[in-house]
Amino acid sequence: MRHVIDFGDITPAEWRELYALAENLWERPRDFRDALSGHVMASLFYEPSTRTCFSFQSAMQRLGGGVIGFSDPGVTSAAKGETLKDTIIMVSGYADVIVIRHPREGAALASSLYSACPVVNAGDGGHLHPTQTLTDLATLTRLRGGVDGLHIGLCGDLRHGRTAHSLIRALGAFKNIQLSLISPRALGVPPYLHRYMEQNKIRFIEATRMEAALGQLDVLYMTRIQRERFVNPREYERLKGVYVLTPQKLRGARPDLLIMHPLPRVDEIHPDVDSDPRSAYFRQAEIGMPIRMALLLTLARLPKEEPPRNYPGDGARCSYGSCISSRETYLPPLADDGYCRYCENRFP
Ligand code: NCD
Repeated sequence: MRHVIDFGDITPAEWRELYALAENLWERPRDFRDALSGHVMASLFYEPSTRTCFSFQSAMQRLGGGVIGFSDPGVTSAAKGETLKDTIIMVSGYADVIVIRHPREGAALASSLYSACPVVNAGDGGHLHPTQTLTDLATLTRLRGGVDGLHIGLCGDLRHGRTAHSLIRALGAFKNIQLSLISPRALGVPPYLHRYMEQNKIRFIEATRMEAALGQLDVLYMTRIQRERFVNPREYERLKGVYVLTPQKLRGARPDLLIMHPLPRVDEIHPDVDSDPRSAYFRQAEIGMPIRMALLLTLARLPKEEPPRNYPGDGARCSYGSCISSRETYLPPLADDGYCRYCENRFP
C-alpha cells in the first residue's frame, strides 16, 4: 500500500492489519502518542468537510505529528490559477502524507502521479471516498463482528454518492454479500459499478422503495441526495426528500438492524431515529478517527519516492465535465478497457 485512491489499493491482509492496529489505538492510545513525531500531514480540502477533515487532523495530532493545509482553496495559489500538478509537487516536498478532497473525479489519482509522498483520497467529486469505507468496514467489524454474509441496503443518491461507490467496491473483498440498492431510477449506481458487481459476483437487486427491502436487511446505509453534484437544480428539487427514515418505517425492520450514514444528513433520517439503539451513525463517525490513525501510521513513515512526472500525453481524452483530466489537460490520458481511469466513465 502506498497511495490510497480506491479501497482496492489495500489488500485484504493490509485491511486486517489496519483494523488490528485501530483496535490497539483504541485500547492503548498513550502508547502511540509520539509515533509520528516529526512527521507532517498535508490536508488539502478543495471541498467542504467536517468529519473527514477533522478526524484526519486530530488523528495526526494524537500521533504527535504536525498538520499543514487548507479547507478553502480560495486562500491558496489555486485561486491564482496554479495547476494541481504544481501544488502537489511542492506540497509533497513539505509533507510526509497528503490527504486530498477535490470536487473533480480522479483528482486524487492525478495527484498520485506527481507526489513524492503517499496520497490519500478523501473524496474525489462524485466518485470514491475510500477512507469513509475504512470507517464503514471498521464499524461493521466492531459492531457486527465482521462483514462476510451481510445483507446491506444502500439507500439514497447512489449515482453521485462517493461513499456508497467506495463501499460497494470494497465489498468484493468479502464473502457472501447481498446488496439492495435503493434509489430513484435517475439516481442509480453508475455503469462502472454494475460492471464491478458483475465481475465480482456480488448479488444485488435495485429497488425504488425503501419499505420493500427494509425487513430483510442486516444493515441500512442511508445517504444524502448530493445537491452539489446535480447539473440541473430543478432535478435536485424534484428528488430531494425522496427517502426519510422514520421510527414508523423502522417497525418493519429487524431488531438487530444497523443504521449507518456517512453524515452529514439533511432530512433522510428523522432525528427521532437517533435514540433508536439500532442507529449507529454517530458511533460510525467516532470510529473514523482510530482507523485513520492506523492509516496515517502505515503511510506517513514510508520513504519518499520521486515519481517520473513526465508522462506521454497522447491518446483519447475524457470529455466528462467533472473529470479532472478534462480540466487539467496536461494530465496523461489513462484508459482501462474503454473507461477513463480518472473518473471511470466510458469514453464517448
Ligand atoms: C460524505 C462525503 O463527503 O462524501 N461525508 C463524509 O465524508 N463523511 C457524505 C456526504 O457528503 O454526503
